[in-house]
Amino acid sequence: MLKALTIRHADMDDLTACHTIEANCFPPSEAAWASSLRNRIEQYPDGFLVAECEGRVVGQVNSGSTNKDDITDEEFKQLIGHDPEGRNLVIFSLSVHPDFQRRGIAGKLLANFIGHARDLGKAAIKLLCKEPLVPYYARFGFADDGLSSSSHGGAVWHAMTLELED
Ligand SMILES: CC(C)(COP(=O)(O)OP(=O)(O)OC[C@H]1O[C@@H](n2cnc3c(N)ncnc32)[C@H](O)[C@@H]1OP(=O)(O)O)[C@@H](O)C(=O)NCCC(=O)NCCS
Repeated sequence: MLKALTIRHADMDDLTACHTIEANCFPPSEAAWASSLRNRIEQYPDGFLVAECEGRVVGQVNSGSTNKDDITDEEFKQLIGHDPEGRNLVIFSLSVHPDFQRRGIAGKLLANFIGHARDLGKAAIKLLCKEPLVPYYARFGFADDGLSSSSHGGAVWHAMTLELED
């Protein structure tokens, strides 16, 4: 049973913990560099949430914002083309440290992120994920847009969208 899980915006003190989670959760070809995470915290803390459990950051969700619907642009991961006023939020990474997985932490991060996106007046949340996670995101209302043209890290990705407008 998890005690006192807090979901909050990231700050620069969270960088090392976020990078450790990233490195433990993704293969090197897919994991964000520390410099990318630093950039995301610095430029768009509004789109970067962490889950903290008893003083330890154990999960994260980070994003950029854009008016574009095509989210396959690799440069966007470095926030090139990021527009804080954009209609879409694009999730770059949702990850929970392996020691803390399957306790609902990603679910809480996502639910919070979705609520925050609504508060920001965003029209949609978009992401790319691998096939096995399509049903997981579908539980939160994301629709499967089919295979993406992205070959990030040499993998096959599904594009998914959660429309927020009524
Ligand atoms: C995917 C991830 C964020 C889920 O975090 P979590 O805190 O364990 O998720 P929750 O506890 O909210 O939900 C658990 C559910 O997620 C789904 N899930 C988690 N990992 C999965 C996987 N590898 N394949 C398929 N479904 C998975 C299952 O439905 C699981 O439910 P179950 O335990 O009843 O089987 C975490 O496993 C992770 O960091 N994975 C590595 C990074 C990654 O792939 N991130 C997604 C990028 S799109």
